[in-house]
Amino acid sequence: MKNLIKSILILIPVLMSTTGTEEVVYAQVGDTVTLKPPRRDNLKDHYLYWSFGHEDLQLAWRNPHGGQGFDKSPWNHSLSMSDDSLVIHHIKQEHFGTFICKLTMNRNSFVITYKLLKLNVIMNPPFPLLPLESLSLVCNAESPQSLMKPEIYWLTPQGEKIKINEGRLTMRATSQHSGEWTCVVTNGEKEYKATKSVIVVDLSPAPLRPQYTSKSSPLTVPCSIAPHISWDKIIAKGIQGVHWDFFPISGLSSAVPQKLFSLCLGDELTWKTEKNTGLKPVKDLKKGNLTLIGKLRSEEDAGDYVCALNFTNGVILKRTVHVNVLQIISSPGTDFISGQQVNLTCSIGHPLPSDLQVKWIPPKALSLPSLRPDHHHLTIPEVGTGDSGTWRCELWQNSTLLTSATIVLKIESKLSVWMLVIICSVIVIAILLLVLIFTLYRRKQRKMRHLRHRLCQCKNPKPKGFYRT
Ligand SMILES: *[C@@H]1O[C@H](CO)[C@@H](O)[C@H](O)[C@H]1NC(C)=O
Ligand SMILES: *[C@@H]1O[C@H](CO)[C@@H](O)[C@H](O)[C@H]1NC(C)=O
Ligand SMILES: *[C@@H]1O[C@H](CO)[C@@H](O)[C@H](O)[C@H]1NC(C)=O
Ligand SMILES: *[C@@H]1O[C@H](CO)[C@@H](O)[C@H](O)[C@H]1NC(C)=O
Ligand SMILES: *[C@@H]1O[C@H](CO)[C@@H](O)[C@H](O)[C@H]1NC(C)=O
Repeated sequence: MKNLIKSILILIPVLMSTTGTEEVVYAQVGDTVTLKPPRRDNLKDHYLYWSFGHEDLQLAWRNPHGGQGFDKSPWNHSLSMSDDSLVIHHIKQEHFGTFICKLTMNRNSFVITYKLLKLNVIMNPPFPLLPLESLSLVCNAESPQSLMKPEIYWLTPQGEKIKINEGRLTMRATSQHSGEWTCVVTNGEKEYKATKSVIVVDLSPAPLRPQYTSKSSPLTVPCSIAPHISWDKIIAKGIQGVHWDFFPISGLSSAVPQKLFSLCLGDELTWKTEKNTGLKPVKDLKKGNLTLIGKLRSEEDAGDYVCALNFTNGVILKRTVHVNVLQIISSPGTDFISGQQVNLTCSIGHPLPSDLQVKWIPPKALSLPSLRPDHHHLTIPEVGTGDSGTWRCELWQNSTLLTSATIVLKIESKLSVWMLVIICSVIVIAILLLVLIFTLYRRKQRKMRHLRHRLCQCKNPKPKGFYRT
């Protein structure tokens, strides 16, 4: 009887301390989860047991003397212990359930229970999408019986919160949907996050500003497939055509769009040139680089360059690059006589944006301030022979040189022009004199011959009748 009472007395504290805490842990199939033992000061002095479902199915144990063991039979190589924490690798469907960690020391025990619940995050379709294709994101979380339903919402790649019932989100894909989506499950004060990468096929953004060039400057017309998308994925999405088109600035030329290049989509990717402009595609096609480089041949090549990808489902991805061509227009002409007034205009065919600055560079160390350049306009009241040579106009934006154009002016001195006039006159007069002298001489010669003739007649008289006929 005494013994019985003693054992009951011992049992009571054991039962009392066994009531531990319960925690909910969410994980996706394939995740690795680490379950930590309860926090105790003298943890190393306890016996530690990890079990699954109920205390009988023991997974791992450790004693205070450093000995430890696993019963891996149903779990095979999915388990490991690290600092008394239980690590479950590559969680499978059958691993979801209740995990129990029991600590005992001096017949006192403490238990913590983990409810490992499944979080299901699915993206449909799983491969890269084209814009306008339907995209659906599902986030399901098992709810613990004892607790209320967890709250679920999605965070967009831009960090925007979208609250959705049942965790399902359906939308038409746009390039903004590209990136990491996060499903957030809140259970009481605890938050669980699961991420999903969404890839929407797109071209890199076109430059915001127009490109500036001139006939003498190199030009790059950029266009490339967004960096995280390989060419293979583009093919897998059913690419139908890739081409570059050109839309001239209306007014300069006929505003009819012109095909510049089209891609031959065979095993060997090659560009077919439809129209020669001086530009050429770079040789980085496999990396998704569709950029054109080169030098324009004419001011009439200013306009919109459009690179377009079209897919079998009708989606067309396009990027437009505006290209402006800088040139110097000289009025009147480029050949002058010193003393003439010359107007130079640095122009792109339409007014320059006000945030761009024009800088004139004359051929030699000319005193530009005296010319008082008025932005893109320069008037030289009286050109001199020193103004002969290459004039350059540079287009700047703050401290960046965008492009520059040049013009060659030929200026003859007034004197040399007068001298030319005099020399020409002298030559003309000399020729006239020569002609006059020659005619006079000829005339004189003829007269002489006539005279001699008459003299001969006298010496050898011939029958008169012969001449009279
Ligand atoms: C344990 O894993 C090995 C290979 O990793 C496998 O051959 C064996 O069938 C597995 N056992 C169980 C019970 O899953
Ligand atoms: C798509 O590309 C093909 C092949 O280059 C072309 O024949 C077709 O006209 C293009 N479709 C559109 C809408 O641009
Ligand atoms: C494409 O090629 C051009 C010229 O080689 C280069 O300057 C540019 O950085 C490339 N773009 C990308 C996205 O690789
Ligand atoms: C140059 O421009 C001024 C006004 O800016 C104009 O009066 C003048 O006629 C122009 N001269 C020539 C040669 O075009
Ligand atoms: C140029 O400078 C102005 C002010 O000095 C500034 O507001 C503007 O953002 C700058 N532009 C660029 C492209 O750096």
